[in-house]
Amino acid sequence: MTGLANFLNINELSNDKLMELMKAAYAFRDGKQVHLKRPVFAANLFFENSTRTHSSFQMAQKRLGIQLIDVNPSTSSVTKGESLSDTVKTLQAIGVDLAVIRHSQRGWYETLVADTNIETALVNAGDGNGQHPSQSLLDLMTIHDEFGHFEGLKVGIIGDLAHSRVARSNAEILKRLGAEVFFSGPKDWYPADFAEFGEYVAIDELLPRLDVLMLLRVQLERLDHQAVETFTATEYHAQYGLTDERAKTLKPTAILMHPAPVNRGVEISSDLVEAPQARIFKQMENGVYARMAILEQILDARNLLEDEYALIN
Ligand code: CP
Repeated sequence: MTGLANFLNINELSNDKLMELMKAAYAFRDGKQVHLKRPVFAANLFFENSTRTHSSFQMAQKRLGIQLIDVNPSTSSVTKGESLSDTVKTLQAIGVDLAVIRHSQRGWYETLVADTNIETALVNAGDGNGQHPSQSLLDLMTIHDEFGHFEGLKVGIIGDLAHSRVARSNAEILKRLGAEVFFSGPKDWYPADFAEFGEYVAIDELLPRLDVLMLLRVQLERLDHQAVETFTATEYHAQYGLTDERAKTLKPTAILMHPAPVNRGVEISSDLVEAPQARIFKQMENGVYARMAILEQILDARNLLEDEYALIN
């Protein structure tokens, strides 16, 4: 293995590296363990709210034996105007080996990786509507679990495309891996640059064709005031949501995914969240192992992993 210095954008990884990450994630799921050469310290900086990504990175870190430094952006000196770069340099100065960061600014990591004074490894836990690479890896794992390949699969990504980092990072990587990607939801929320990944198709025409349906949350917190005022959950559900009736048009072999958090009764009928075709909680379970695999790559690049051979002997 040649590890990764940082983990920032799923599309920077070769197909071989993606397969290596998925294989490692499955091995962790099967009980693989690693040993560290010395105490390793991580800080998780979530400038936007999170349940899944934050807690599953924590779980992955604890399972790998990484020690966590408690930093909460809302009570840190960021509130006094300290920059993200100076915050990371501060953590580096006190001995933090890696920082997992979620930030509303798309591409927050670009200036940090260009800064030769920053040696702390950086892991992107979501940047604005740019990338959500650890979510993409766990989504790839979940699809591979089901079908064993990506080539030729028809994947529909439906919902609030405009504000979704999951849509952007998944569409690009799935297309590269040979899947056929389609989009649906409000046409106004179909960004022009998504056309290079897949075409827009009306939801009722699209659903019966799909192998994988990925629903997206309506991100009300990112809509402007006027859009929030005019938004109606019941209307959205009827026009663009996976209603109980629409779900009957899916192929019996199709799977239903959602990065969550889920707006039950908006993008998906509440009863369908735990339906037999749904993989939503499986995605969350896979997330811990995907994040262990990501962190293992970072540890390897920094020569912090005990050699398995050395442990046996
Ligand atoms: N899927 C996802 O990123 O969820 P959180 O915002 O809760 O981390």
